Amino acid sequence: MTKRVAILISGGGSNMMSLVQDMNGDHPCRPCIVISNLPEAGGLAKAASAGIETLAIDHKQFGKDRSAFESALHDALVAAAPDIVCLAGFMRILSPAFMAKWDGRMLNIHPSLLPKYRGLHTHQRAIDAGDDYHGCTVHEVTAELDGGPILGQARIAIAAGDTTSVLAAKVLPFEHQLYPMVLRRFAAGDRDQVVLGV
Ligand code: GAR
Repeated sequence: MTKRVAILISGGGSNMMSLVQDMNGDHPCRPCIVISNLPEAGGLAKAASAGIETLAIDHKQFGKDRSAFESALHDALVAAAPDIVCLAGFMRILSPAFMAKWDGRMLNIHPSLLPKYRGLHTHQRAIDAGDDYHGCTVHEVTAELDGGPILGQARIAIAAGDTTSVLAAKVLPFEHQLYPMVLRRFAAGDRDQVVLGV
């Protein structure tokens, strides 16, 4: 049976679109909703143009009440009834209580070679550390920030003089390749790691 995929975004949604574009033909999944915590996220219009239901749940309207925001997000997800939830550039930290509700059904893409550089500013941190390699990771979401089981990684070489924006531009096309590959496998029950790049 076709699996329903909800995608959570906060920005331009290029990873969301790479997932959406792949969910065609014999793909085991179809997108059911795209939700953003920012009404101005550019990805919402892209998803709507692709004929997908969209929803903005503005976290700022909930002030400091994280649990009220998460409760609205949870209710919206329950209403959309996804089998899998993909975080794709979703920039809110979710509480362990929220994540527990979606345990085993939620994936995330992170722009580093986890377990290196959880959190923010990953490209700059890789440069500052003098790393030879950088990349991106798709992992299952667990209560630990950027810490769940790794389902795939793409590795690229850092060249001398690479800036944060150069590195980000090198990694992003690999994100667009990796996430759809992992989602296809995950939906079919395959948790073997996908390895791309150098
Ligand atoms: C991507 O690089 C993604 O890996 C990153 O945000 C960007 C979103 O771009 N996610 C995180 O940093 C999550 N911690 P997109 O909106 O074009 O997909």
